[in-house]
Amino acid sequence: MAWAADVRDFELEAYFTRWEFVARYHLTASDAQSMTLAELLAMADEDEREQFGDTWLGYTETRGDPELRQAIAATYDTLDATQVQCFAGAEEGVYTAMRVLLEPGDHAVVVVPNYQAAETLPLEICDVSGVELDADDGWRLDPAAIRAALRPNTRLLSINFPNNPTGHIPSRAVFDEIIDICREHDLYLFSDEVYRLLELDEAKRLPQVADCYERGFSLNVMSKAYGLPGLRVGWIASRDTAMLERFNRYKHYLSICNPAPSERLSLVALRARERILARNRDILRANLLDLDRFFADHADLFDWARPDGGCVAFPRFRGRGGVENFCRRLVEEAGVLLLPASIYRSELMATPSDRFRIGCGRAGQREGLDAMREFIRRNRGDFEPAST
Ligand SMILES: Cc1ncc(COP(=O)(O)O)c(C=O)c1O
Repeated sequence: MAWAADVRDFELEAYFTRWEFVARYHLTASDAQSMTLAELLAMADEDEREQFGDTWLGYTETRGDPELRQAIAATYDTLDATQVQCFAGAEEGVYTAMRVLLEPGDHAVVVVPNYQAAETLPLEICDVSGVELDADDGWRLDPAAIRAALRPNTRLLSINFPNNPTGHIPSRAVFDEIIDICREHDLYLFSDEVYRLLELDEAKRLPQVADCYERGFSLNVMSKAYGLPGLRVGWIASRDTAMLERFNRYKHYLSICNPAPSERLSLVALRARERILARNRDILRANLLDLDRFFADHADLFDWARPDGGCVAFPRFRGRGGVENFCRRLVEEAGVLLLPASIYRSELMATPSDRFRIGCGRAGQREGLDAMREFIRRNRGDFEPAST
């Protein structure tokens, strides 16, 4: 099977390559606040710190360090270490899973809007259909739309909740129906759960797919809720250990194994997870209050709704000139980085063209919001909707 050298640019990553490290205010990050190596090590006990210093810098197990897999398995209700395969970040997990689970001639169904890898990677392999999160109905996913998208050759459904970029989490009833559909049609269910544990209302937290469906694959990572993307440690958990073994063999052609220091540090973070998550949830809550205030003050220009979970939301820009122009001017003139709707363009169906992604996980958000406030104040006449 040929892999096209001209695979569609990963538009979000290309935009970040241009702006992420030059924009003064990164107001669209999808991860929780990170920390220094020293801060993380300060959460370790003496033994762990010593073990970190003693880390052997050779190759490690492709599957992932056994102790780490054990700690990861403990974050699921029903799994053990044999049911976890580690990857270099979540991204390598998405890539591997799509390459192994799908073949030409298959059909996959993916929620839209999405983190682009979720659709571009399967599209390189087979036919793909989108099912919409409805912007006009609180990003609701209609399970009937999944049923309608199915074909005799549908092999996989790919979901991501809390969703990037909308922050949507479906109800438990919808989630259960998704599992039922997959079971009825014998589908693989690939569930990107990287924003799990950052639900604003814990009651909305969904179970992990690997715990409740025998052909389910739960993707997770240290990057988002834990705020440690620099470790590049992700994993897929599943009860289908034969398939995990195939993922493991595929990884031999990719990163081969994860870096041993990152595995050690991930273990430290998982042991300190309640502390790290509490810190990150506090930042998230405070940022959302600031965003509520900001958008209340600019109700003529934006439609704002809090995400159900995760570190990003996808509000509407109602001003003159459109969201692409607004985001471009904002970053060029005020150094504030947002992601305009076009970054979330889908090849599967039309996506909203008046939205932008704003982040809410990082410390220092207030300075970015102040710069945005000042930019709008100076240029209000350029953006004010005609009706106001
Ligand atoms: C939904 C989703 N899945 C996967 C990833 C990739 O995560 P990582 O950077 O840890 O590889 C991201 C990163 O933004 C994401 O938003």
